Amino acid sequence: MNVLLIGSGGREHALAWKIAQSSLLDELYVSPGNPGMQRHGRRVELDLGDQRALRTFLLEKRIRIVVVGPEGPLVDGLHDRIADDPQLAGKVTVIGPRRQGAQLEGSKEFAKEFMFRHNIPTAAFRAFTKDQLKEAVDHVGRMAPPFVIKADGLAGGKGVVITSDRKEAAAVLKDMLSAGRFGEAGERVVIEQFLEGIEVSAFLITDGESFKMLPAAKDYKRIGEGDTGPNTGGMGAISPVPFADKDFMQKVHDRVAAPTIRGLREEGIPYQGFLFMGLMNVGGEPYVIEYNVRLGDPETEAILPRLRSDLLDLFEGIATGTLSERHVDVDDRTAATVVLASEGYPEKVRKGLPIAGADMVSEAYVFHAGTTMKGDELITDGGRVMVLTAFGKDLEQAMANVYRSVPLVAFDGKYFRRDIGRDLVRAPQKA
Ligand code: AMP
Ligand code: GLY
Repeated sequence: MNVLLIGSGGREHALAWKIAQSSLLDELYVSPGNPGMQRHGRRVELDLGDQRALRTFLLEKRIRIVVVGPEGPLVDGLHDRIADDPQLAGKVTVIGPRRQGAQLEGSKEFAKEFMFRHNIPTAAFRAFTKDQLKEAVDHVGRMAPPFVIKADGLAGGKGVVITSDRKEAAAVLKDMLSAGRFGEAGERVVIEQFLEGIEVSAFLITDGESFKMLPAAKDYKRIGEGDTGPNTGGMGAISPVPFADKDFMQKVHDRVAAPTIRGLREEGIPYQGFLFMGLMNVGGEPYVIEYNVRLGDPETEAILPRLRSDLLDLFEGIATGTLSERHVDVDDRTAATVVLASEGYPEKVRKGLPIAGADMVSEAYVFHAGTTMKGDELITDGGRVMVLTAFGKDLEQAMANVYRSVPLVAFDGKYFRRDIGRDLVRAPQKA
């Protein structure tokens, strides 16, 4: 079958690499892709907003499956535009939900209300609109700190402020609700109870009827070692996660994943593709911090190497509503993933710097994120530049293996965290 993959980051490179291994694949196209993905598929430049051009491409290339890496096109209704196009209907399966299902990520308030309707554990919350600034500030006045304030819409991972300072909380609310910080995304805010615990990213794949859990991962979100400094898209990941043991993952399955898929079905919200459950482990109990309607980045670079099953076989299960008959087979080894970022990330970075040595890496997978070509030269083109993943029989080995490859890749201002996985090396494992 022919496949079109949308996106250009490390997550999409890992998806392209995995899809290219499938015996079911004829042609893979990636749009816009990156130089690393070129090895696995043909790069094309599609304007997703141009329905005619998109339709023509899908028909001419006989695309069966469209895999959407990032959330943006899903929240914007790309799935609906493909599925509802009379010439495409029934011919093309989109891996990723329709606009309605994408609201699980696109609106925090929608997600929170959904969780409450279906008894899915999550922090208590209240939502406020633009004309309720006073109520929102009064609410914070009555709450115990710390305060968790979130812009309702998509804000590129930057729409969350956690503070114990009431004055700062009031200023943030004012900023979001009346001063237009985060634009439309911040015209509604959600104020949540603070959850104390350790985070873990859990994933499933679903055809809307049944679902399969995928390996879980831990993401290292802060820029600085020891989890300090500003939040980023993610600086590294490990999978599996020692504290997300069998017992915990069973709770995730029973209390979060199953009621979510059942809830979507009961509400008549079609959903197919991946679901990312951002969880807090609070004393061994999973609470949902957020849903994402896509895979995580860099979690994908850690979990896809561990997936032994053919990804296109799972996608075919979605296309035909037979996911329940497919198998998810996972490698027991540990994967450790380290992001090589540009100096200055997550703020302003310099681009266009030559990258050397990526070809020298032989003991780790190399996934491109922010790279581009200038003539024959590979250069940096973003905050997160490259992502390396290595296996080990345990976490310590995986870390040692990936960190041996990190020095081989060189560019000016290369920055990476040296402590990915370190907090969990001797984490006690429940029997
Ligand atoms: P979100 O964009 O909702 O994932 O939030 C960004 C980050 O803020 C999360 O990854 C958590 O580290 C933190 N966070 C969000 N909600 C809460 C909460 N209710 N309690 C504690 N930390 C939270
Ligand atoms: N690494 C977190 C995310 O993809 O949202």
